[in-house]
Amino acid sequence: MDYKKVFERLWSDYIDTNPHVKKIYDLFTAEGEVVINDHIAFRTFNDASINVDVLAKVFLANGYEHKGSYTFESKHLFAKHYEHKTDLLAPRVFISELILENFSRDFQHVIKKEIASIDKKLLFSDELIYAGNLWNKPSFAVYEKLKKESEYAAWVYVFGFRANHFTVSVTDLKKYDSIEKVNSFLKQNGFIINNIDGEIKGTPEELLEQSSIKSGFIDVNFEEGVREIPSCYYEFAKRYKDKDGKLYSGFIAKSADKIFESTDFYEKQG
Ligand code: NI
Repeated sequence: MDYKKVFERLWSDYIDTNPHVKKIYDLFTAEGEVVINDHIAFRTFNDASINVDVLAKVFLANGYEHKGSYTFESKHLFAKHYEHKTDLLAPRVFISELILENFSRDFQHVIKKEIASIDKKLLFSDELIYAGNLWNKPSFAVYEKLKKESEYAAWVYVFGFRANHFTVSVTDLKKYDSIEKVNSFLKQNGFIINNIDGEIKGTPEELLEQSSIKSGFIDVNFEEGVREIPSCYYEFAKRYKDKDGKLYSGFIAKSADKIFESTDFYEKQG
């Protein structure tokens, strides 16, 4: 199968669930920009049945290879990034996993129980990356409980396997050719930029600058009824050339660390 089909399906699910990201995509195209996708990201737990290596399988089978590994100590995360072996236009894939052993016994018990309830057929199928929440209807009480120890875990508990974000390649935009311009364009259009540690993560010297909107709120059907919580976000990345003239293709752990917080719960304005 062509890797493009994988991305088309992930994109279509992402914009269906998150109308706010489609609005941003449309804003850029209305400005005459061609939106190229720099990377997508998935989140999971380090359980052997659903860890990074399991989610990566479908990409490895479609021409991708492992290019980098990252550790996020304060968030208790480990991640790998993958790139297509030959097609330079193919988006990068970034997959992270939460290190469950670092959390309370109660927390681990909740997660392990949900993982054990996944239909085994799905675990060995290419469908896993599109499967969303694979366990039972989420409980808002459990979501709130997990959130106290890890916002990341609470997000995965509700949204499961899907693209957590797509990323506009600012490197390829014409008019909005800097992260500053992108951020002010988004703010003019009513979006909230994640400003934890500043609106721009990274520097030209580090060869990668990134920003992201805060996740939009969507209605989620919990056991207790419908609640609005933050879902997925859109990210923006500008890459620079290294001293050999090669565009930097990796990730900066220090920058990504704060971008993870784009899905954190926040008080909705208005
Ligand atoms: Ni990202």
